[in-house]
Amino acid sequence: MTLPISLTINGVRRTIALDDPRVTLLDLLRERLDLTGTKKGCDRGQCGACTVLVDGRRINSCLALAVSHDGADILTIEGLARGDELHPVQAAFIAHDGFQCGFCTPGQIMSAVGLIREGQAGADPERVREGMSGNLCRCGAYAGITEAVLEAEEQLTLAER
Ligand code: FES
Ligand code: FES
Repeated sequence: MTLPISLTINGVRRTIALDDPRVTLLDLLRERLDLTGTKKGCDRGQCGACTVLVDGRRINSCLALAVSHDGADILTIEGLARGDELHPVQAAFIAHDGFQCGFCTPGQIMSAVGLIREGQAGADPERVREGMSGNLCRCGAYAGITEAVLEAEEQLTLAER
């Protein structure tokens, strides 16, 4: 027996037949939809590598059942750039060396996008560090990550004026 669900993923409406109601949103994205930009680190809600936006809010997709988000709007790292034009957060991570191996980077970037949208960064390094504390980086690229989030926040704020 399959369970049909409908999700809007990166702006595209998709109807998906789940053959197991226990499948997580992370596994659905990676294994069924080939959206492998979202990473699986711990698979238990501790590292933030799997961060995506659901209806505009940050979540750890490894802890979310796909079925419980039927009808939701999902944004993953693949949906951020506009063609060849990087999202300001992506560009800022490059400009500030906000990564080394890159494994945590999609989750860091999606978390930063969510943080800025929530208005929680506040142009304050301490608030950025606190707001990004659910995203771990084994390479220790935290200084660059904080700088990148602050710069992207400034750019996005200016763009809204
Ligand atoms: Fe989801 Fe680590 S893989 S929090
Ligand atoms: Fe390697 Fe963060 S850049 S884990």
